[in-house]
Amino acid sequence: MAVISIIGMGYVGLVYGAAFADLGNQVYGVDIDTDKVAKLQRGVVPIYEPGLDELIRRNREAGRLRFTTDYAEAVPASEFVFICVGTPSTFDGDADMRAVRSAAEMIGRNLRGYTIVVNKSTMPIGSGDLVTQLIAEAKPAEATFAVVSNPEFLREGSAVYDVFHPSRIVLGADDREAAETVAELYRVLNAPILITDRRSAEMIKYASNAILATRISFINEIAQICEQLGADIKVVAQGMGYDPRIGPHFLEAGIGFGGSCFPKDVRALAYMAEEAGCHPQLLHTVLEINQDQRRRFVRKLQDLLGSLHGRPIALWGLSFKQDTDDIRESPAIDVLRLLVQRGAEVTAYDPVAMPHAAALVPEARYAPDPYSAVEGADALLIATPWNEFKQADLSRVKELMRTPILLDGRNIYEPADVRALGFVYVGVGRGV
Ligand code: UDX
Repeated sequence: MAVISIIGMGYVGLVYGAAFADLGNQVYGVDIDTDKVAKLQRGVVPIYEPGLDELIRRNREAGRLRFTTDYAEAVPASEFVFICVGTPSTFDGDADMRAVRSAAEMIGRNLRGYTIVVNKSTMPIGSGDLVTQLIAEAKPAEATFAVVSNPEFLREGSAVYDVFHPSRIVLGADDREAAETVAELYRVLNAPILITDRRSAEMIKYASNAILATRISFINEIAQICEQLGADIKVVAQGMGYDPRIGPHFLEAGIGFGGSCFPKDVRALAYMAEEAGCHPQLLHTVLEINQDQRRRFVRKLQDLLGSLHGRPIALWGLSFKQDTDDIRESPAIDVLRLLVQRGAEVTAYDPVAMPHAAALVPEARYAPDPYSAVEGADALLIATPWNEFKQADLSRVKELMRTPILLDGRNIYEPADVRALGFVYVGVGRGV
C-alpha cells in the first residue's frame, strides 16, 4: 500500500483522496484553504456528492485519510503526490494555471527522496513540462521525481461510482517505469490502462470532453431542424442510438451543456488550437450553438407571451444538471438571468441549488417548493431534469398557474400527456 498526498480538496481531489484511502492507501488531503481543512478535520464535507460523506467518514475513522494545510507534513512522507487543484477559464478562454504553479512550487520545496508527481487536474497540453520545470527549480538538490499525467473522467453526481468503475485509466509519461508504478495504484479496479506520452494523455481529456460537448450541440441543432420540419427529436435520437457506431448516450436535446468541465475545456482547447495556428471551426461552433440554445429557449417564451416585462414566470431547476448543487456555467442560471434582464418577475425553485443561485441572482424570488413557485405564474420553465420535476403533480400545477404554459427545456415530459391536461406545451425539438 502506498502513501499518497492529494493537493487540492476540491471535487476531484476529495473524491480521489477518499477512494485511494478506501483502496487501503495512506492518504493526506492537502489544501491551502484553512477553513475548508478545518471543516474536513471535523468531518464536514464541503460539497454535495452522493456517497462521498460516507466514504470520507469511513476512511477517516480507519485512520487512512487525514487533512492538512501543511505541505511539509504530507509531501515528504509521500511516494505519490497528486495535483488536483482547479484550472478555471481566464477571460480569453485560456486555462488559469496559477493554482497549478503554486502547488508545483510547494511540492518542489517539500520533496524528499524519489517522488512521483501526478497531474490529475485538466491542464493545457504541455503542462506536464511546466510542472516538471517548476518542481525542478524549487526542489532540494538530492530529491528526484517524475511527472505523470493522469486525467480524470468523473461525472458530478456519480463521481463516487465512477472513481471505482473507471472506463479507462490514462497515464502519460516520459518515464515508462513511473507510469507503470502509478498503474499499480489502479490495478484492482480492472479497467483498461493506456500508457502513452504526456501530451497525448493531456489531449485525451480535452478531446473526450470536446466530443461529448459536440454530440450535445449536434443534437441541439438537429432538434431545431426537427421543430421546423415537424419531427420529434426524442424518437430521432432513439433511432440513431441503436446504431453501434453512434450509440445512445449524450443525444439528449435541451438548453445546452454547462458545468465546471465542458464549457471550460472546449474553450481551452479552442484557445490552444488558435495559439498553435489551427482554426478549430467545429469547436467554436459547438460553443456558439450551446449559448444560442439558452437564448432560443427564452425567445420561445417571448413568442408566446410577447413582452416579459412584469410577467410572473416560474423556473424549475437551477443546477447545471440533476443531482448536484453545482451552478457553474449552468444553462438554467443563464435562462434566469435572461428572464430577469427582460423584466420578468421570476420565482425559481431547485431542490438543492437555491442558496448558490440566490447569491448570484438576488433579483429573482426563490420558493420553498415547486408548487409555491408556480402560484399565479404565466408560464413554467423547466431548466434542469430533476426527478422531482418528472414526478410532479401537473394537474395541481395547472390549477395554481394563471396561464398554463409549460416550456420544457429538458424534454422531461411527453407532449401529448401534458397537452391532455390542458397545458400549452413546448419542448425542445418536439415538432410533431
Ligand atoms: C463531464 C464529463 O462527463 C466527465 O467525464 C468530465 O470529467 C467532466 O465533465 P459533468 O460536468 O459532471 O461531467 O457532467 P455531464 O453529466 O457529462 O453533463 C454535462 C452537461 O451536459 C450537463 O449540463 C448536462 O445537462 C448536459 N447534457 C448531457 C445534455 O444537455 N445532453 C446530454 O445528452 C448529456
